[in-house]
Amino acid sequence: PVPLNAAVAPLEWLLGTWESDEPGEGTFPTIKPFRYTETLHFTHVGQPVINFMFNAFHIETKKPLHRESGFIRMKPGTNHVAFINAQNTGLVDIEEGVLTDKQLKLQSCALSRISFAKEPQVQQISRVFRLQPDGKLEQTVSMATNNQPLTQHLHITYQRTSS
Ligand code: HEM
Repeated sequence: PVPLNAAVAPLEWLLGTWESDEPGEGTFPTIKPFRYTETLHFTHVGQPVINFMFNAFHIETKKPLHRESGFIRMKPGTNHVAFINAQNTGLVDIEEGVLTDKQLKLQSCALSRISFAKEPQVQQISRVFRLQPDGKLEQTVSMATNNQPLTQHLHITYQRTSS
């Protein structure tokens, strides 16, 4: 195991595998509320980068649903974080924001999609990761589409299942 690169040391609290401890809650004005489970993997190979993979599943059938994967980098000497993300739905986005203690607040600054992506078009994503005092990780995601303003889509908490 290689040591964590100092450039991403402030994000060490994210590393490992996290599994939703209770079902996540999905909402949006245009859809029926739903529940889901999700596993997050944050790993590194010694580069100044954290690798991530998020896999969500149907609550009952356990069928794979939404998936996201990418890289997290930090601007040297700052608390500025970039989250570079590809989604299985054909959306790619770059989210940037700041790390304050054990909370990471991100907002999309670039967003693109495949030519045949499903409607509606996502226009904006904002997301918060927070390490709770009880050691659980919390993720909240809001989005705006071409017919809805920025509104919460996801809320979920996870327990670390391996480092
Ligand atoms: C619906 C985007 C993550 C499950 C949607 C819709 C969009 C969207 C644009 C359609 C809304 C509408 O019809 O007005 C996103 C984005 C995500 C994300 C940008 C990540 C940043 C997830 C995750 C799950 C999920 C992690 C977990 C299973 C669903 C479900 C629906 C939905 C079940 C409703 C049915 C459907 O349209 O497929 N999402 N989503 N989404 N999303 Fe997400």
